[in-house]
Amino acid sequence: MATVIDGKAFALRLRDYIRLQVASLKSQRGIAPGLATVLVGTDPASEVYVRNKARQTTEAGMESFQHKLNADTSEAALLELIAKLNADSKVHGILVQLPLPRHIGTERVINAIDPTKDVDGFHVSNVGLLGSGQKAMLPCTPLGCIMMLREQLGSLRGKHAVVVGRSNIVGKPMAQLLLADDCTVTIAHRYTENLPDLCRQADLLVVAVGKAEMIQGDWIKRGATVIDVGINRIERAGEIRLVGDVDFQSTAAVADAITPVPGGVGPMTIACLLFNTLTAFCRIHGLPEPQDAGFALAEGIGVLREFRHAS
Ligand code: GUN
Repeated sequence: MATVIDGKAFALRLRDYIRLQVASLKSQRGIAPGLATVLVGTDPASEVYVRNKARQTTEAGMESFQHKLNADTSEAALLELIAKLNADSKVHGILVQLPLPRHIGTERVINAIDPTKDVDGFHVSNVGLLGSGQKAMLPCTPLGCIMMLREQLGSLRGKHAVVVGRSNIVGKPMAQLLLADDCTVTIAHRYTENLPDLCRQADLLVVAVGKAEMIQGDWIKRGATVIDVGINRIERAGEIRLVGDVDFQSTAAVADAITPVPGGVGPMTIACLLFNTLTAFCRIHGLPEPQDAGFALAEGIGVLREFRHAS
């Protein structure tokens, strides 16, 4: 039976570390990092995500500024709000919850965010910085995944990593981070031929496709490490349950380690949002960044070492 990677416990540790850093910044300098969230419309899942993000922000001792706009808000009005948040010295991180209503151009909005405050790492300049091995703001979900992989395995060098899913939010940046950690990386997607055979070649398998329990145990190489990014609501035996993109039981029987759903990647994503907000604050104020300071040393693990790759 595989080791179950406890993302919830890891996220708690990371949030504790952030809370202590924030408390020390407040007492030394009298200022706290601030995160602004922007939600357009009333999508119930988005409302839950934004509420959780805001709650954890204040629990970490940071300022939370929540902006809730009607679904018929114009793109121009949203861009005006972004410009105000960019100019607000109390705001160090800006998160626009996706998806946006169809009449709003997502790329125009994301690229209007000051890249230094882009705590989602979605701005085109952060995407380019990551792709060229420069210091970027890293997308929260892939950052959480790579932290768990590093903690579980130490070095990832030379491993064959298969990423199933090629979204801008998870698949593509995940592949970049794995490459920066010296993995050999394959990206699979809906048109990939013979996906089960490809997955069987993976030392590390990261799955972000949004299809409940698509990956089966007989697709897994013995001893592999499996990171399940999916969160799917299904009905089973008359009950609503949350399951991942990976069939947990059959995969756990073959893999060396696996993240559960819930309690794996999800909690790490929010912890990494707080981590990015702290990082943005430090960059804006010219202070040492969290990955250069305590956490890696305190934990005795290199989870926050830099992401750089030259060739
Ligand atoms: N919607 C789903 N995932 C995300 C995310 O990571 N960030 C934002 N802003 N919206 C999302």
